[in-house]
Amino acid sequence: MKLLLRNDELIDRSEAAISYLDRGYMFGDGVYEMIRVYGGVLFEPEAHYRRLERSLREVRLEPPYPTEQLDAQLKRLIREEGLNKDGTIYMQITRGAAPRNHAFPAKAQPELIAYVSELERPYESMKQGIAVHTCPDIRWLRCDIKTLNLLPNVLAKQEALDMGVQDVIFHREGMVTESSSSNVFVVRDGTLYTHQANNLILHGITRMVVLQLARELNIPCVEEAVNLEHLREADEVFISSTSAEITPVVRVDGAAFGRGVPGPITRRLQEAFQRRIDALQ
Ligand code: PDD
Repeated sequence: MKLLLRNDELIDRSEAAISYLDRGYMFGDGVYEMIRVYGGVLFEPEAHYRRLERSLREVRLEPPYPTEQLDAQLKRLIREEGLNKDGTIYMQITRGAAPRNHAFPAKAQPELIAYVSELERPYESMKQGIAVHTCPDIRWLRCDIKTLNLLPNVLAKQEALDMGVQDVIFHREGMVTESSSSNVFVVRDGTLYTHQANNLILHGITRMVVLQLARELNIPCVEEAVNLEHLREADEVFISSTSAEITPVVRVDGAAFGRGVPGPITRRLQEAFQRRIDALQ
């Protein structure tokens, strides 16, 4: 892994130099995407491109070039890196470098970078499940934009690790929103609940796939927030994201669900997700 896509050029990572005045660095003024790669093939790229276009629009940033060109560049990056295993592509676009001033600069060139990483699938946690703790969601009111401003997420994740659990489940005044870098699903009496896709959560691509799979499997789905009490009394809980896929949650705030192992609906969804991955090859 040695290449970096910088705007429309593939360069050696060691030659990458970004200005200290870049607004991504100064203000977190930019957006990002992370796309899964399975066996060298992009997973749901169109959905990621649509979300990227939306994030850019919401922060009033012009895409550096059309989506078809971006798609071609990302595929070229995978090819030139020789990535034929499981991994990810990380990509971010900032408003570029300009003298520090909160207002948009009159002249700044957006800065796009993208790189690939090898990343094994989280086999162990998908099988065993993870423990989480709940904490207040102190983020802003536009969590639907995938911006670079992740400090509350970073602090929450670290607090979880310091407490000896793997992640957090955020709540706003007792209503469950999402996790530090994934969406949250709750199963109660055979029905799947997840927060509605509004301004309070990121509209996860894995979340979208899980909802499609649940419909195909005739599992009733409700896009509605659950409260903390319902979370604690749930039959099953899992998180979903590009890197975590469908990871069961087996303990919340120290208490186990059922027998403390992944539940049957979670397992059915994991199997259906696996079939989606198998169909890529
Ligand atoms: N995280 N919610 C938040 C706050 C996230 O940061 C993410 C993604 C998700 C799940 O979205 P998706 O299914 O599209 O990955 C939900 C990425 C992977 C990250 O920041 O690393």
